[in-house]
Amino acid sequence: VGGKIVATSPYPLGLRLADRRVLVVGGGVVAQRRLPALLESGALVTLVAPAVTAGIESLVGSGAVSYQARRYQSSDVDGAWFVLAATDDPMVNAAVASDAERQRIFCVRADEAIEASAWTPAVGRHEHVTVAVHAGRDPIRAAAIRSSIVERLADGSLDAPHVRPTGGGLPGVALVGAGPGDPELITVRGRRLLARAEVVVVDRLAPHLLLDELRGDVEVIDAAKIPYGRYVAQEAINEALVSRALAGKFVVRLKGGDPFVFGRGGEEIEACVAAGVPVQIVPGVTSPIAAPGAAGIPITHRGVAHEFTVVSGHVAPDNPKSLVDWDALGRLRGTLVLMMAIERLPAIAAALIAAGRPGSTAAAAVQEGTMGSQKVVMATLATIADEVVAAGVKPPAVVVIGDVVSVAERLLPALR
Ligand SMILES: C[S@@+](CC[C@H](N)C(=O)[O-])C[C@H]1O[C@@H](n2cnc3c(N)ncnc32)[C@H](O)[C@@H]1O
Repeated sequence: VGGKIVATSPYPLGLRLADRRVLVVGGGVVAQRRLPALLESGALVTLVAPAVTAGIESLVGSGAVSYQARRYQSSDVDGAWFVLAATDDPMVNAAVASDAERQRIFCVRADEAIEASAWTPAVGRHEHVTVAVHAGRDPIRAAAIRSSIVERLADGSLDAPHVRPTGGGLPGVALVGAGPGDPELITVRGRRLLARAEVVVVDRLAPHLLLDELRGDVEVIDAAKIPYGRYVAQEAINEALVSRALAGKFVVRLKGGDPFVFGRGGEEIEACVAAGVPVQIVPGVTSPIAAPGAAGIPITHRGVAHEFTVVSGHVAPDNPKSLVDWDALGRLRGTLVLMMAIERLPAIAAALIAAGRPGSTAAAAVQEGTMGSQKVVMATLATIADEVVAAGVKPPAVVVIGDVVSVAERLLPALR
């Protein structure tokens, strides 16, 4: 067609660009958006542009992209396997496309796609699956179809046969942090593994709404109800994980928040490792950060708190078994987050004040943070224990002590 491209159906193809030179012309946001996938494919990217965005600058600084800080010249396309014309000047893009055409190098144009020899599909990824959609000349429709397919692959509603998640051998155990309570706060990976589980061992604090989405044949074991018999509770949970995994099942251990924040995740891993069961860990959104955050309390704030400390209050300060240095905590100026501390709050607050933290320090309790039932009580260190009782605050709750609680009052009007 004499150098002029006509708009017929594209021929879909997966370019294997590893160690092949790719030329990107332009240093703006379009180039920045395209670079990660090019780099992921292993392409040797040369970028030509008089100036680049800060994002591209950091890729150049890391050595991932070879950068020529100047205007485009025709010889730039020499030796490239693929060219991306992504400047904001249609004349330059047209020149790049026609130079590439002359050398029979496929070229994508960020502006006049229809004029280009290659079109970029709407792309999504799920594990090793790449979803690439062309929808005629309607990129918005293509993106919507792409998103819908990827979402359905991720939540398991689009059932695609797949290899076992831990690869060959035993399917194993995935220790998944389910987040602080709102079912939407599990990670994408956590949700994907949950959709594949054959057995789910679930904690009391993990969002139980997530279990509604499981297939009917999935065995759901409530960790709190596993009979101990000859074991203590944690050993009985470990045993349930290991025995199911050794029986060839893929087990998801669904835990509230993050598996390693007062979650005994380490003990469960040790048990799996000792039994030769493969384990993978999926971190979770953790309540000492998420619950205050959901209540509008930032646990750090510029000029207010340069540190935050998360402490378990499940052992009273005067208990010889306590591993916490309450005197040291009382001398800190930053944010202190107490977990499992509602029962012992009077003794803890008194210990902190005795160690030097002013009783006037702002304090808040957040019960069931991130959930519809979230309840927040604002007070001071001197009054928080009484206010918590008066408001009937019950576990699960975190208590936040520090000037960031006062910041919340400024931020709250902006939150919905
Ligand atoms: C055994 S710890 C488990 C923490 C969990 N692994 C995490 O990362 O959030 C349980 C404590 O976490 C806190 N907690 C968990 N979920 C919470 C929520 N939604 N709101 C407030 N506190 C929460 C409470 O202090 C509760 O007593």
